[in-house]
Amino acid sequence: MRIIETANQMQSWGVDRISEGDSIGFVPTQGCLHEGHASLLHRARTECDRVVLSVFVNPLQFRKPAYEDYPRRVDSDLKIADECGVDAAFVPSFTSIYPYGLELDELFSLQSGDSGPRHEGEFTSDAVGTDNSMNYVRVPDRLVMRMDGKGYPWHFDGVATVVRRLFEIVNPTKAYFGQKDIQQLAILDSMNQWLNTGIDIVQVPIYRDADGLSSSSRLTLLDPDQRAIAIKVTQIINQHSKQSGQRAKAVLESLKNALHELSVLEDQLEVDAVECIDPKSLDPATVIGQNSALYVAFVINGLRLAETRWCK
Ligand code: PAF
Repeated sequence: MRIIETANQMQSWGVDRISEGDSIGFVPTQGCLHEGHASLLHRARTECDRVVLSVFVNPLQFRKPAYEDYPRRVDSDLKIADECGVDAAFVPSFTSIYPYGLELDELFSLQSGDSGPRHEGEFTSDAVGTDNSMNYVRVPDRLVMRMDGKGYPWHFDGVATVVRRLFEIVNPTKAYFGQKDIQQLAILDSMNQWLNTGIDIVQVPIYRDADGLSSSSRLTLLDPDQRAIAIKVTQIINQHSKQSGQRAKAVLESLKNALHELSVLEDQLEVDAVECIDPKSLDPATVIGQNSALYVAFVINGLRLAETRWCK
């Protein structure tokens, strides 16, 4: 496995592979790889000639303290990547991704939203940095002022900005994203169409541990009793996701009631958001079925978690 640290080297590695006629499958991550990431890498391995993994903790999608506290485990990430058959691991520095003359604090200040307006329906990009050379992507209201985005739309601007930049550097044939992050997936898919990149976005089904929980680095912070509560939440969502053909409004009401009853029994549990949405547009779904997903955000003992179930 080749380890690449600069954007120029990554770009020329990709150009060489494409000129040899190879397809490139790309899995962008922020490291701390778990089984969910491994499932994206395995899928890329089966579908593409070459697989590229990136490990980059993106300051634009965090507030500064959370960025500084974010766990970094590059050595174990590289070991997992190698075991998953990755050809090139791209582990860039901050300046390789953002070579626009902006200090870290100036990058965080973009989150204030002063660099330009957000549009209702269209993606836009603000030209910032030295010579206005950086494109800071603004995700439209229709996709960002929903679900988790409502509280912090800048988070998804940051995700979109870094993925656009990574796409420019890696220039993959296909890019792989998990269905677990349902809002991120809808936003990146829509951005990809806006940019007309020609990259095929592949949605990979949620990887679940044997007890039904979707893999996430946050789950390691739960003790066994707390994990048991999270499992119960998942089971309730799962039962409701199978009510194909039912009106979403009725299913949501029943789901909310069942989760409320659980939170009365389990005082560490608080239910934050319960939604049934169309995974593409993120609009509320009207009927349970293939074009709907249930999304529940909940807190266990101060730790915020989210579960998504694509309906059947
Ligand atoms: O899903 C993630 O890990 C990140 O949001 C991503 C897509 C790698 C961008 O930093």
